[in-house]
Amino acid sequence: MADKSVRQIAPAKGKLGVLTVGLGAVASTFIAGVENVRRGAARPIGSLTQMGTIRLGKRTDNRTPLINEFVDLASLDDLVFGAWDPVPDDCYDACVHCGVLDRHEHVEPIKDFLKGIKPMPAVFEQAYVKRLQGSNVKSGKNKRDLAEQLRKDIRDFKQQHGCDRLVMVWCASTEIFITQGPAHQSLAAFEKAMEANDPSIAPSMLYAWAAIMEGVPFANGAPNLTCDFPAMLDLAKEKGVAIGGKDFKTGQTMLKTVLSPMFKARMLGVAGWYSTNILGNRDGEVLDDPESFKTKEESKLGVLEYILQPKLYPELYGQMYHKVRINYYPPRGDNKEGWDNIDIFGWLGYPMQIKVDFLCRDSILAAPLVLDLAIFFDLAQRAGMSGIQEWLSFYFKSPQAAAELYPEHDLFIQLTKLKNTLRWMKGEAQITHLGIEYYESE
Ligand SMILES: NC(=O)c1ccc[n+]([C@@H]2O[C@H](COP(=O)([O-])OP(=O)(O)OC[C@H]3O[C@@H](n4cnc5c(N)ncnc54)[C@H](O)[C@@H]3O)[C@@H](O)[C@H]2O)c1
Repeated sequence: MADKSVRQIAPAKGKLGVLTVGLGAVASTFIAGVENVRRGAARPIGSLTQMGTIRLGKRTDNRTPLINEFVDLASLDDLVFGAWDPVPDDCYDACVHCGVLDRHEHVEPIKDFLKGIKPMPAVFEQAYVKRLQGSNVKSGKNKRDLAEQLRKDIRDFKQQHGCDRLVMVWCASTEIFITQGPAHQSLAAFEKAMEANDPSIAPSMLYAWAAIMEGVPFANGAPNLTCDFPAMLDLAKEKGVAIGGKDFKTGQTMLKTVLSPMFKARMLGVAGWYSTNILGNRDGEVLDDPESFKTKEESKLGVLEYILQPKLYPELYGQMYHKVRINYYPPRGDNKEGWDNIDIFGWLGYPMQIKVDFLCRDSILAAPLVLDLAIFFDLAQRAGMSGIQEWLSFYFKSPQAAAELYPEHDLFIQLTKLKNTLRWMKGEAQITHLGIEYYESE
C-alpha cells in the first residue's frame, strides 16, 4: 500500500544546464551521445534513467513503470551543455581527437551542434595534473579569485542559455593524491586557504566550492578529494545543495563489486586478486604519473576490503593479496583491456582460479553514468535533498558516505538502495523481498 509521506518534488520544468568540468573523452562522448539519441540516431544504452524500470508493490501487482515515468525527471530535450577545459578544443574536435565514437556515424552528422560547445577557460594548474598542459586557462590574483570567476561563468551560462536549473559533473583528469589537512576542516579555514593559495586546495575543490555557492549540485566522477571533506560538506548543508562522488564505477571495479559479493555469499575464500589494465587515452597518460595513479589506486583498492570484511571473516579474507596496476599503452586508445586473476579457495581449502578479461570501452561505459548523475542529482536537488547523496553510490567506485558510516560497495545493494529511495520519494512501499505472505495462510 502506498505510504502517505510523499516527498515534495519541484517539477522538472524548463531547461537543465549540464556543466562538465573537462571536455575530454568521457564528457564529449556523453554530450555527442545525448544529441544522437535526441535525433533518433542511437539508443541510450547503459542509462538507468532512460531505460530502467522500477517494480512497485507486490510481484502479483504487475506494476513496473519506466523510472522516468514514475518520477518527474529532466527530459533529454531539455538538456543544454557547457564545459571548462584547459585544452581549447570544442566538443567536435574533442570527439575527433578522442576517437571514441564512429566519426561518420555519430560525429559528422551533428558537427554543427558539437562545434557550438566551446570550453570556457579552466581553473588549471599543472602541479595537480603533471602530464597535461593547457592554454585555455584563467588567471587571477589568488585561488579565491579564480573560484569567483567560476561562479560568474555559472551565472552567465545560466542566463545566456535561459536555464531553469544547473548541475555540474567533474569529468576532468585525476589530480595528484591529496589527503585532508587543516585547510579542509572548516569553511573559514578553507576560504582563508583559498586566499593564501594553499597548495592543499586543488582546482577541483574550487569548482566544487563555486558550484555549491551558486546552489548547483555537484557530482565528482574522478577519485580526487574535491568535495569529500568537512568544509565542503558543511557548505553543501548550509546552502542546501546535493553533492557526491567519487570516481565513476565503470569497468574493472564494477566487475569487482559484483564478483566479490558472490564469493562472500557462498563463503568462498580469496587468497589473491591481481588486476591489471592497459589503456591508451589521455586518461591513461595522466594516470601514468605516479601521483595521479596513487589517487586512482586508493579508489580502486578500497572496494574489496569493504565488501569482503576480512575482520569478520579472517579465515576467508584475512590473508588476501590485492594488487591493481594501470599501464599506459597508446595503441589501444580508449579501448581498455582489464585483466583480473582471482585465486579463490573452497571446501577444505582447495584452490581454484578465475580469469576475467574485459575488453571494454572506457568512455562508452562512463557516458551513460554522466547522464544519470546529472539527471538524478537534479532530481535530488528538486526534492530538497542536500549534502551527500549516498543513494547514488551505485555510480561511484569510492562512494562518499556520512562520517559514521562505511560506504556500501556491492552493486546490487546499491541498486536496491537507489530504487528504494525513489520509492520513498514517491511514498511507495519499500521492497523487502520477504514474500512470506504467498506461502502462509491466515
Ligand atoms: N570509464 C571511464 O572512462 C572512467 C571511469 C572512472 C573515472 N574516470 C575519470 O573521469 C575523468 C575523465 O576521463 P576521460 O577519459 O574523459 O579523460 P580525458 O583526459 O580524455 O579528459 C579529461 C579532460 O579534463 C581536462 N582537465 C584537466 N584538468 C582540468 C581542470 N582543472 N579544469 C577543467 N578541465 C580539466 C583535460 O584537459 C581533459 O580534456 C578522469 O579523471 C578519469 O579518471 C573515467
